[in-house]
Amino acid sequence: MGSKECILLAMFMIIGVSAARTISYDPMSVKHEQWMAKHGRVYKDSAEKELRLKIFKQNVEYIESVNNAENSTYKLGTNRFTDLTNEEFKATHNGFRPSKAALKKPTGGFGYENVTDIPASLDWRSKGAVTPIKDQGQCGCCWAFSAVAAVEGITGISTGKLVSLSEQELVDCDTDEDQGCNGGVMDNAFKFIVENQGLTTEANYPYTASDGTCNNKKELSHVATISDYEDVPANSESSLLKVAANQPVSVAIDAGGSDFQHYSSGVFTGDCGTDLDHGVAVVGYGIANDGTKYWLVRNSWGTSWGEHGYIRMQRDVDAAEGLCGIAMQASYPNA
Ligand SMILES: *[C@@H]1O[C@H](CO)[C@@H](O)[C@H](O)[C@H]1NC(C)=O
Ligand SMILES: *[C@@H]1O[C@H](CO)[C@@H](O)[C@H](O)[C@H]1NC(C)=O
Repeated sequence: MGSKECILLAMFMIIGVSAARTISYDPMSVKHEQWMAKHGRVYKDSAEKELRLKIFKQNVEYIESVNNAENSTYKLGTNRFTDLTNEEFKATHNGFRPSKAALKKPTGGFGYENVTDIPASLDWRSKGAVTPIKDQGQCGCCWAFSAVAAVEGITGISTGKLVSLSEQELVDCDTDEDQGCNGGVMDNAFKFIVENQGLTTEANYPYTASDGTCNNKKELSHVATISDYEDVPANSESSLLKVAANQPVSVAIDAGGSDFQHYSSGVFTGDCGTDLDHGVAVVGYGIANDGTKYWLVRNSWGTSWGEHGYIRMQRDVDAAEGLCGIAMQASYPNA
C-alpha cells in the first residue's frame, strides 16, 4: 500500500466513515463526506448519494473557477446549499412573490424625501436595531423575515429596546394575500401588522419553518406596533440611501443566481438579474477598502451562509434598478 493510500485510509478512520462499505479514494468523495458530516446531511440511499455527489462536484468546481478569476471582488464557498442544483435552490429557499393584484400599496408619500444628513457609512447592527441572524429553513417565507427585520429595526430605534419578533405569526395569520411558506410580499406583511395592532415576540410565537394555524391567543401580546408603511421611490438607490441612513429597510432582490447560492465573502458584484424572488433587509451601507460602495444586507439563511449570514452587495451601480434589482421594491414601516 502506497503512503498516499495510508493517509486516506487514516482519514476515513478519523472521520468515522464505514470504510468496509464505501472505500473511495476520490478526493471529491472525501470532501463530500466531510461536508455531509459538517451539515448533518443524510441521504436515503446510495443512488441519492451518488446524485448528490455529482452535483456537489459540479458546484465545487464552479466555486473554484470563480474564486480563481483574478478580477473577482467576492469569493464563493461551500455551504449547506452545495449539493443542490441552482434550480432546486431557487425553488426552496426564497419566497418573494410579487403579484400586482395582491400587493397592498401604502397610500402615503415618501417621508424621507428631503433627508440630507447622510453619513458615509452606517451599520445598524452596532446601534441596537438588528437581532441575530435567523434561518428560514426550507420554507419560502423570506418575505416574513424581511418585514420582521425592518419592524425590529424601527422598534429598536424608536423605543431603545431590541426585541426579536415573530415571523411565524405572519406565516400563520397574515393569510389574506400572503401564502406562508409559498411566498408573500413585505408590504402585505406591514399592512397586516398595522391592522393587527402589532406583532408578538419570537419567544412567544416561535418559528417552525412550516405553515400552521393562526394561534390567536399567542397573538394577544403585541410588543411591536407600527403606524403605517411606505414604499421607497422605485429604481432610486439615492432614495434607498435616505431611508437606510434612518432605519433598516425591506428590499426585494433577485437571489436566484449560482453566485448568490454559493456566496461566501467580499462585495458581491453579480452575476444576477432583476427577477425579484427574495426578500431581505438593508441594515447598513459603506465603502470597501478598494473603494467599492456596498449595501449591508441581512439574509435569513442562517449564519453559515455569506459573511456570518450577511452579504455586502455593490451599491450605486450603473443600472437604476440597483444590483439584483435591490432598488426596485424597497419599503419600510413607520413607528
Ligand atoms: C472578470 O473578467 C471576465 C473576462 O473579462 C468577465 O467575463 C467577468 O464578468 C469579470 N468578472 C467580474 C466579477 O468582474
Ligand atoms: C420636502 O420639501 C418640500 C419643499 O419644501 C415640501 O413640499 C415637502 O412636503 C417635503 N417633504 C416631506 C416629506 O417633508
